[in-house]
Amino acid sequence: MDVMLKQIYGPEDPWCHVFEGLARPYMVETAAGEKTDNEAFIKSILQKQGSSTRWLMLIMSGSQVAGFAHYKISDEDPALGEIYEFYVTPGVRCRGIGRVAVNLIHRSLLTCGASKSELTANPPAEGFWAKCGYSQTGECVRNMQVMQARLRSDPSGDRPSDSPG
Ligand SMILES: CC(C)(COP(=O)(O)OP(=O)(O)OC[C@H]1O[C@@H](n2cnc3c(N)ncnc32)[C@H](O)[C@@H]1OP(=O)(O)O)[C@@H](O)C(=O)NCCC(=O)NCCS
Repeated sequence: MDVMLKQIYGPEDPWCHVFEGLARPYMVETAAGEKTDNEAFIKSILQKQGSSTRWLMLIMSGSQVAGFAHYKISDEDPALGEIYEFYVTPGVRCRGIGRVAVNLIHRSLLTCGASKSELTANPPAEGFWAKCGYSQTGECVRNMQVMQARLRSDPSGDRPSDSPG
């Protein structure tokens, strides 16, 4: 599957309006902005970019923009990757794009020295994260489960679905 990640480097990036256009429906769907000013939150994500251990990525499926992801290496634990935002646009869901994008994120975190990845799961997406190798840690944040996955450089039996063979 032809899925790639395209980095957005900050508020001056020519693609930042594309991210903004995706982030608004994402905020509504996940209610991530329940008590937040959505526009300020979106702006703050853009302003945080520029570090070598944080990524804001558009998920590209061929030439089509299919979603976005925001993740970083933990400041406290360099072995821990943290996925903050993850979104596949409704029109292209259930085609495996999300799973391939997660595999690409895992590879990039591994390359940067992480051995595990963590996120706070939007409840309707828990099953998706389980399919991507995440398990509940038992911790809850704002009534959402914290989930964690081990990252493996040779994921036998968990071959990224964009790999040949
Ligand atoms: C959750 C989300 C990222 C899934 O993206 P997607 O591209 O549709 O997922 P995929 O097609 O790659 O699915 C991979 C597997 O997970 C399963 N899956 C996908 N969404 C699921 C869900 N909501 N619940 C249970 N399983 C799900 C698929 O059936 C598939 O399983 P299979 O390989 O056995 O067929 C997408 O629905 C989304 O963006 N949701 C809104 C935002 C959100 O909740 N983001 C997560 C924030 S923590």
